[in-house]
Amino acid sequence: MPFMRIRPARSFRGTFSLPGDKSITHRAFIFGALARGLTTIEGASFGEDCTSTRRCLEALGVRFALSEDRRRFLVQGVEALAAPKAPLDCGNSGTTLRLLMGVLAGSSFEATLSGDESLNRRPMERVAKPLREMGARLQTRDGRPPVIVTGSGLHGAAITPEAASAQIKSAVLLAGLAAQGLTTIHEPEATRDHTERMIRSFGGVLRDNGPMLEIEGPQTLTARNVRIPGDPSSAAPFIVAGLILPDSEVVIEGVLLNPLRVRYLDLLRDMGARIESQISSTSDAEPWGRIVARSSDLRGIDIDPRDIPAVVDELPILAIAGAFARGRLKVRGASELRVKESDRIKAMVSGLQAMGGRIVELDDGFSIEGGTPLRGAPVLSHGDHRIAMALSVAALGARGDTEVAGAEAVSISLPTFFGELERGAAR
Ligand code: S3P
Repeated sequence: MPFMRIRPARSFRGTFSLPGDKSITHRAFIFGALARGLTTIEGASFGEDCTSTRRCLEALGVRFALSEDRRRFLVQGVEALAAPKAPLDCGNSGTTLRLLMGVLAGSSFEATLSGDESLNRRPMERVAKPLREMGARLQTRDGRPPVIVTGSGLHGAAITPEAASAQIKSAVLLAGLAAQGLTTIHEPEATRDHTERMIRSFGGVLRDNGPMLEIEGPQTLTARNVRIPGDPSSAAPFIVAGLILPDSEVVIEGVLLNPLRVRYLDLLRDMGARIESQISSTSDAEPWGRIVARSSDLRGIDIDPRDIPAVVDELPILAIAGAFARGRLKVRGASELRVKESDRIKAMVSGLQAMGGRIVELDDGFSIEGGTPLRGAPVLSHGDHRIAMALSVAALGARGDTEVAGAEAVSISLPTFFGELERGAAR
């Protein structure tokens, strides 16, 4: 397994413009494929997860072209997707597999969705069940992939997802676009709303009725030009590196500032972080702007379980902020972390313990006594990009070198991660 050696850094400084947001890129590829006409997509993520979505759509008969300067994808929308010749490989990407379940439920053919070893361990009934309530025919293997979808006529239904998950909500909305009649979704807690924003920007109609989303099908979407802001989840490791190391300043330009994605900035501020963020425009249905973070004296907090859905991808890096803070950082109500690309609770607990951190595993979270100096150590990514990045940031603030095994996992969301980390690290 390839590993990366990370040397400690004295400080962390630099201006970073990160590639396009992963969640929005998946959706832009999917909506571009389904809309009538030619969609252009500027600033898409080139991470492996989004490539999985694009390849699956290509296997379903959708044509993508990349402009010569590699800045824009062109997607020709199709009237109807074509039956794939082989099982669709979603790689490591839960978003690809779950959103395509919603897309394929209303098709006219049978398709199999599968993934790598990690994805094939993850729960899919949470998406299959609500889709079946809409008339879909889906078969999972003991609740996990491969998922066999036999396309059928769908009808609207009143859906209450079993977990606060943007992936479940998005699959239902995508199915709702093809279904006859009204579909309503009642989310337990608010989750990222990129699908809703994108349906509207592609000319679709969606109503917010208090905590309820309402979509009336069938609807036809219209192609458009999409510009994708930088990924705030990819920005988080660099921001935390700037907070925990002395004499540091990190500027992130052109980044998505959707409140359901940058809640982690608020939690870091509650921990005493010196972070400024400013929206400079709302373009392509999403707020964009700039974040500046400086070395800070952090203290531990108790994270409110109601905040978990809005920071679910940043909990590993928040744990690192906690390890460098005074006092205790406590995370509860986060059992979703156990069914991400890895069991992120176990992965962070074992990684930080190997480095001498005082972290305790809880059934639905973890508790960290911060301020204990970390030492470099061999650690494992567990094949999980967010774990590889979080432990690499911890390594910058540790004494002695750290070897992160399975470091190549960063390519899932940010193939340039280690180059950028080196660029910011001063020694
Ligand atoms: C995502 C939603 C989240 C997140 C994942 C991307 C999305 O999953 O963890 O990385 O793009 O909709 P859940 O909504 O299942 O929590």
